[in-house]
Amino acid sequence: MRLVFLGPPGAGKGTQAKTLSEQHGWPHLSSGDILRAEAKAGSPLGKQAAGYMEAGKLVPDSLIVDLMVERATRPDCRKGFLLDGFPRTAVQAEALDKALAARNAPLDAVIYFACGDVEVLGRITGRRTCPNCGGVYHVRTLQPKKEGVCDRCGAALVQRKDDSEAVVGQRLATYRLLTEPLIEYYRARGVLRQIEAEQSIGAINEELAGILTQVSARPS
Ligand code: AP5
Repeated sequence: MRLVFLGPPGAGKGTQAKTLSEQHGWPHLSSGDILRAEAKAGSPLGKQAAGYMEAGKLVPDSLIVDLMVERATRPDCRKGFLLDGFPRTAVQAEALDKALAARNAPLDAVIYFACGDVEVLGRITGRRTCPNCGGVYHVRTLQPKKEGVCDRCGAALVQRKDDSEAVVGQRLATYRLLTEPLIEYYRARGVLRQIEAEQSIGAINEELAGILTQVSARPS
């Protein structure tokens, strides 16, 4: 199944995408994770992207579109993929549609994670991530067994630079201006499905499973 997860920063897209990817074997293609890996490696792309990311702004379409479209059309994505964080602008959405249409492999669904600003702020400022394996935790809702230490690999957890309260406001403003219009873009194409993302992680996972059952039963 070819899915896009759309929604404000911190709505829980990555948390659900990781679980679904493990359940179904579809590659989890997170544009944020890919850009952070490039920045960590000090690649030319990573160096260009880092300033935008730390400021809570989108990296230019010219840096991200070809990279993500190429990734989503690799052989390991033939049976499906979970795009998380891409597309985020009209230009990105149109480029993705074009590439998928050329392969006769359109999106099956775009899942919109609806989440209010207060919840977003609490989730983002409380998030802790593992710089080694990418594990994601929360200081209240998803605590590691040992405080500050990743359950999976034992590395010390950190707070992402763009997860500070100061940057979250800019990330939300960027989302409203450039990404929120994609809700109507995909609704008009008949692929949008909405999830109330303020529920618990488990409840969202169950709702997602129900949506995927409906989508896969739909005649193509
Ligand atoms: P990116 O990494 O994509 O960040 P984002 O969209 O802002 O999304 P997040 O990773 O912050 O949130 P999420 O929805 O995945 O939430 P999570 O599951 O972690 O992008 C970062 C930057 O990269 C951008 O600002 C931009 O600069 C650049 N970039 C990336 N893609 C780009 C693109 N396409 N074009 C241009 N620039 C791009 O959950 C958050 C927290 O809440 C966690 O602590 C989690 O444990 C907790 N939580 C999750 N679900 C629940 C729940 N149901 N109940 C309670 N707590 C929960």
